[in-house]
Amino acid sequence: MCKYLVSGPSTLYGEVKISPAKNSVLTIICASILLAGEVLIKDCPDILDVRVMCEILKSIGATTLWTKEGLTVNTKNIFTTILPKQKTAKIRASFFMVGPMLARFKTVTVSKPGGCKIGERPLDIHLDGLKKLGASIKENEEEYLITANLLKGAKITLRYPSVGATENLILASVFAKGETNLINVAKEPEVVDLCNYLNACGAKIKGIGSQNLTILGVESLCKSISYTPIPDRIETGTFLLLSYLLDSNVQITNINLQNIYDLTKKINNITCKNSGIYVKIYSDKLYIRSKGEKYSLGDFTTSPYPGFATDLHPIMSAVGLGVRGQTKITETVFDSRFMYLKEFAKMGAKFSLNGNTVTIFGKGENIHGAHLVCPDLRGGASLVVASLSAQGDSVIEKVAYIMRGYSQFDKKLQSLGAKIKLIDGDYIDD
Ligand code: EPZ
Repeated sequence: MCKYLVSGPSTLYGEVKISPAKNSVLTIICASILLAGEVLIKDCPDILDVRVMCEILKSIGATTLWTKEGLTVNTKNIFTTILPKQKTAKIRASFFMVGPMLARFKTVTVSKPGGCKIGERPLDIHLDGLKKLGASIKENEEEYLITANLLKGAKITLRYPSVGATENLILASVFAKGETNLINVAKEPEVVDLCNYLNACGAKIKGIGSQNLTILGVESLCKSISYTPIPDRIETGTFLLLSYLLDSNVQITNINLQNIYDLTKKINNITCKNSGIYVKIYSDKLYIRSKGEKYSLGDFTTSPYPGFATDLHPIMSAVGLGVRGQTKITETVFDSRFMYLKEFAKMGAKFSLNGNTVTIFGKGENIHGAHLVCPDLRGGASLVVASLSAQGDSVIEKVAYIMRGYSQFDKKLQSLGAKIKLIDGDYIDD
């Protein structure tokens, strides 16, 4: 099992290019099922979750090919509608294949999905919506058999703006008969990206970016397309927050500023306390200089977009360890995203957890390196952030979690001068 060896405190200098968004790429791979043709996902990040999705597709007859341009997926020759249990159980996004499989084949067998253990993560919003479109669902303790002889447009109000349910229902509606109205949908940039991708393939989706979408069913989509997904806003936020926490002179390129603007504003507001902090933003890149005493960026409550992203909660907590003052984070999206705290405790961190609110007491204690274990993807990234700022060495185990969502994370950090090394294992062996 590969590990990271990290030495802190590190300083950062140089330029890092953000990869296309994991959570766009995964749904675009699902959407490729609708094309029954070939899609080139340009600059696709080679991350564990993408590899698992490719394995699932290949096991049902699709082909995938990595080239210097990115990842090509061809779903023309899919020959079965039974998704492989042991692979779909590994990753939540595999369930987003249900919509397109139903739309194209009218039936699909899928296991109850796995993924990071960050909460209960039920599927009721997905399943209720699919039933409203005409699907019938049989289940046993391990999997679902879902069929739909005719998917018919419907008006569906989501009880919560679930990202995955929004994407699944969009994908199920693309070929449905008539018009589908989805109300109270997720507005995450990755959902917008999926809609833009589908419209580029010939779908008819209106209201993109709003909380109500209208999808007019079409007969078919184009047979081939090349598409560049949006930059990963969570990777951007991770490097931006890390650059704020450490002493840094860093340029972050290939960003989508709209998706991380609030975070850059929070950091710029600190300059009144410490003129050593400076963020210059451009249309597709930003420059951050961070020197001297760092202060807490304030209190945060996670919520669906455009609120503070739940995926940045653990990273912001790690920043809280190394800055002066308290950082309070209330997690409203997932019900157990605090598993990283027991790893922070090994580093001497002081914090309190009341219900779904954690208060990190920064800088009061000397945060030191420790032997740590990644609890999940974003919790794992928070351990890297905390270790790069702590005094001394850390060993971080189960870094395959991190490789699920960050491509070449240690190499990108090394290129900025961070003292981090992959040991005891090869790239992406989970
Ligand atoms: C997507 O997960 C992302 N994953 C997550 O990123 C992200 O944290 C999450 O959206 C929220 O932004 C992918 O896109 C592959 P949800 P998803 O459905 O779709 C509850 C990462 O680290 N819910 O919006 O699973 C659910 O339990 C990952 O990159 C229901 O109750 O998230 C949760 O509490 C982690 N019933 C809340 O909604 C349902 O049917 C939000 O979940 C569906 C969801």
